Amino acid sequence: MKSELTVIVLAAGGGTRMKSKTMKVLHPIAGRTMIGHVLAAARALDPARIVAVVGHQREEVAAHIAQLEPGAVLAVQEEQRGTGHAVRMAVEALDQLSGTVLVAYGDTPLLTGESLAAFAAEHEAAQCAVSVLSGIVDDPFGYGRVLRNDEGDVEAIVEEKDATPQQREVREINSGIMAFDADFLRGVLPRIGNDNAKGEFYLTDAIAIAREDGLTVGAYPVEDVRQTEGVNDRVQLARMGAELNRRIVEGWMREGVTVMDPATTWIDADVVLARDVTILPGTQLLGATVVAEDAVIGPDSTLKDCEIGTGARVVRTHAELAVVGDAATVGPFSYLRPGTQLGARGKVGGFVETKNAVIGDGAKVPHLSYVGDAEIGEGTNIGAGTIFANYDGVEKHRTKVGKHARTASNNTFVAPVEIGDGAATGAGTVVRRNVPPGALAVSSGPQRNLEGWTLVKRAGTQQARAAAEALGEDVSATVAGRGDGEPGVAES
Ligand code: UD1
Ligand code: CA
Repeated sequence: MKSELTVIVLAAGGGTRMKSKTMKVLHPIAGRTMIGHVLAAARALDPARIVAVVGHQREEVAAHIAQLEPGAVLAVQEEQRGTGHAVRMAVEALDQLSGTVLVAYGDTPLLTGESLAAFAAEHEAAQCAVSVLSGIVDDPFGYGRVLRNDEGDVEAIVEEKDATPQQREVREINSGIMAFDADFLRGVLPRIGNDNAKGEFYLTDAIAIAREDGLTVGAYPVEDVRQTEGVNDRVQLARMGAELNRRIVEGWMREGVTVMDPATTWIDADVVLARDVTILPGTQLLGATVVAEDAVIGPDSTLKDCEIGTGARVVRTHAELAVVGDAATVGPFSYLRPGTQLGARGKVGGFVETKNAVIGDGAKVPHLSYVGDAEIGEGTNIGAGTIFANYDGVEKHRTKVGKHARTASNNTFVAPVEIGDGAATGAGTVVRRNVPPGALAVSSGPQRNLEGWTLVKRAGTQQARAAAEALGEDVSATVAGRGDGEPGVAES
C-alpha cells in the first residue's frame, strides 16, 4: 500500500546573489515562479499535505504560496539556522505526520513530479529511514558529498566546508532532495547538532545518525541532474530558463507540433497546444495560452493567455487575453488587447488595435484601425482607418455595429453609438448619432473643385507644371512670382 505522503518545500533563504528586491523563489521562468514549478511537481504526487517553510520576505512568499496552493501549511523560520532547523519548523507546524516525508527546495524549477514520485517509490520499496536523491556530477564543488563504505552502502553526507581533500574528490553529490520515514524524522531532528564549519543544523546529518542506529539509508542517483539544480543568481536563472524552455518546446514537438526554430520559440509551462499546430520563428506563447489544431502562429508573435481556434493564422501579432476563432486571421502587426473576441473566419488586419471588442463570425477589420469597447456583428466589414472613439475624456462608452454592415474608410464612431444591421457609411464619416438598419450615413460636406487653383497658388512648382500639361495650357504661364507658391525650378 502506498503510504501517506507529506512534501516539505524549503524557501526561507534570502537569495542574496539575485541582487533583487524580489525574493529568489518568486522569480519566474516559463511563466511560473520557481517555487510555482516545485509546488506543481509536489502536487503531481497528490500528497496528503504540502508544507512550505518561509523566512525572508515571508509575507510575499506566503501570499504567493497560499494563492497557488491554498491547502499548503506555512511554517515560519525566523532565522535561517540550517536545513535541519528549517525542516524542524515544518514538522512543528503540523499536528500529525506519518508515512513518507519528502524534502525539496523552492529554487529547483526543472524538477518534475515523475522524478519525485520515482524517488519516493524507491525510498519506500527499500524501507529506508532516510534516503537522498543524489547525482553524479563533473564538478561537485559546493555540494554535500555522499560518502559510501567499501560495500557501497551510504554512510554519511559531508558538506563542502567540512570535507577532507579526499572526500572532496567524491563526485556523487546530495541534490538536496531527501525522503524520510516520518517517525524517524520526528525523532532525529532534535538529535542534529550544529557543531560544523557553518554552525548550522544540517539536515544531511540524519544519514549518519540513521547509520549509527543501524537503520537502512539509501542514495539514488538521479539520471537527469539538471532537475535538481538550484538557481542562485540571474545568470543561472537565464540558463535554467533556456533549458526549461528547450524541454518544453521539445516536448510539444514530440506531441506533434511543428516548431520551425526551437531556439527562438518560447513556450510557458502552462500553455496547451494541439497536434499540427505550426509555430514560426520568434514566437512567445505565454501564460495559459491554448492553441487548437492546424493553427499557424508567427513569425514574431507574442500571445499571452490567449485562445486560438482551429486553423487560425496569427502573424506578427501581440495579443493578451484574446480569443481568436476558428480559421480567423490576425496580422501582420496587430495588437489584440484584453477582451478581444474574434469570431470564426473573422479578420483583424495590419496595424489594427482592438480592446474589449467582440467581432462576429466572418467580420473584418482589415486595415489601420482602433476598435475599443465595441461589438461588430457577423459578416460586417469595417473600412480602412476607422477609429472607434470610445473615450470622451471622462468615461468609456460602447459602439455597436450590426451584422453585414459596410462602413467606409476613415470613419470615426463616437461612442455611445449604434450602427444597424446592413447599414452603410460614406468615406470620412463621423458617426455621432445612431444609424438605422439599412441606412447610409454621410457626414462630410459636398465636395467643391476650385478649377485651376494650383496653376495660380502653386505657380512654378512641379505640381503646377503637371497640371498645366494635363490641361493643355502654356507651361510658362506658371513661372515663379505669379503666385505665392514655391520658387520656380530652372527650365531645361
Ligand atoms: C544543501 C545541502 C547539500 C546539498 C545542497 C544542494 C544541507 C546541510 N546541505 O546545501 O548537501 O548538496 O543543498 O543544493 O542540507 N533553507 C532554509 N532555511 C535554512 C537553510 C536553508 O529554508 O535555514 C533553504 C534555502 O532557502 C534553500 C535550501 O534550503 O532553498 C538549501 O539551503 P542552502 O543554504 O542553499 O544549502 P546548501 O549549503 O547549498
Ligand atoms: Ca544551495
